[in-house]
Amino acid sequence: MLSASVTVDPAFVVGPVRRRTFGSFVEHLGRSVYTGIHDPEHPTADADGFRGDVVELTRELGVSTVRYPGGNFVSGYRWEDGIGPVEDRPRRLDLAWHSTDPNLVGVDEFMRWAERTGVEPMMAVNLGTRGVQEALDLLEYCNVPGGTAWSDLRRANGAEEPYRVSMWCLGNEMDGPWQIGAKTAAEYGRLAAETARAMRMIDPDLELVVCGSSNSGMPTFGAWEHTVLTEAYEHVDHVSAHAYYYEEDGDLASFLASAVDMDHFVDSVAATADAVRAAGKHTKRIHISFDEWNVWYQKRAESRPPSGDDWPVAPVLLEDRYNVADAVVVGNLLISLLRHTDRVHAASQAQLVNVIAPIMTEPGGRSWKQTIFHPFALTSRHAAGEVLRLAIDAPTTDTARFGEVPVLDAVATHDAGTGEVVVLATNRSVTDEVTLDVDLRGFEGLRVVEALTLSNPDHTWTATADDDSSVAPRPNATAQVADGRLGAVLPPVSWSIVRLGPAA
Ligand code: AHR
Repeated sequence: MLSASVTVDPAFVVGPVRRRTFGSFVEHLGRSVYTGIHDPEHPTADADGFRGDVVELTRELGVSTVRYPGGNFVSGYRWEDGIGPVEDRPRRLDLAWHSTDPNLVGVDEFMRWAERTGVEPMMAVNLGTRGVQEALDLLEYCNVPGGTAWSDLRRANGAEEPYRVSMWCLGNEMDGPWQIGAKTAAEYGRLAAETARAMRMIDPDLELVVCGSSNSGMPTFGAWEHTVLTEAYEHVDHVSAHAYYYEEDGDLASFLASAVDMDHFVDSVAATADAVRAAGKHTKRIHISFDEWNVWYQKRAESRPPSGDDWPVAPVLLEDRYNVADAVVVGNLLISLLRHTDRVHAASQAQLVNVIAPIMTEPGGRSWKQTIFHPFALTSRHAAGEVLRLAIDAPTTDTARFGEVPVLDAVATHDAGTGEVVVLATNRSVTDEVTLDVDLRGFEGLRVVEALTLSNPDHTWTATADDDSSVAPRPNATAQVADGRLGAVLPPVSWSIVRLGPAA
């Protein structure tokens, strides 16, 4: 049995809990759109063909923003293909995923889905095969009220009011050799700056996201951000970060410590942005949009796109089945994102439905929750107010990838309005329980409102369409408050949420 102590103090504020931390991502990829959010044959489908059950699950998941339409897909996308009468729309090759896109869903349908679902749309423009003009055309179509060719076409297509999309991604992973139209940092930085400058001429209040590195393992990581931001600093608000984690070669200990890497990633990008800020004598700060993150077993067969003459519509692609350990890691990654709320101003779990997703669907049939649904939904629902900086004193565990890492990771939020304090914690030990002792310094009269723990003696347990509830977090009866201290026992390979409220 290991012991860890944590001090929580309402005075130590990192920053606000941002709703945009709980964003997601819908890409034209595999069954994310077609038979995912969109399935006209489904009994719950609306007039656009969107599944009502998926809308409900997205709401339950607590998703705030949804990035669209890609991902790698966007770098070959002609957005005009997806507007106007559906029967007139072209079928196109999607080179990124070696598929055929029937263009049954385009920007107008997506905006209606977003409105019905209650999420904020976050659009990406194609800076792979296209450039400044096409980005401006799409922005005009979406955000200009009327009286111009593109805005009047939107009105003719049924949307009288502009969509007023605030967040825009300037391309996707433009450093990746796999990306259609991949560029050097100097080429991309220039194009991003020019695109951003022109977009702001239409709408100066946009929030623009410039592409950072595709992942922190890229050979140009750091240098890419430096060059791109040197070109584009004054024209953008956020730099993107993308990270996917998975258990490799049975190394569970390293996998459970994935958030250590995310912490380092965020700190490195922030430091690079600040170096450019100093060198350029800029006053504003660039924030991070962590707009792709998740567990993704990239080396598995289902992650390989089709090939040859086969260009299927909505193939089964990237349909990872998540186990308990994956959910614990997702919970820990959310802890890391919250801890960096001063710097990470938006994040999108990749993705929402079927493709490396918390929500799964059967075409025309059932929808169900993967294990990773639960930490996301609970964190989104209960983290509120301000994120607190904790003092954590925990024993370490040895990992092959990251060396010695604290066995316990945690963050807390405090909502001054309701008085609720939420403690989120992960026990990263593969073998040992952790006895947690939380000094609730500065808080008086708190009691446990709810304590839930996600764990299982068999951490490889996955949810299925027949049973997606057995893996849901269960009440943790060991969580108790006494003498201003919260105590709890956290099983190995577990994620927990403890909600504390004022005594009645
Ligand atoms: O989310 C899946 C893919 O991962 C996205 O299309 C791409 O941006 C990233 O490499």
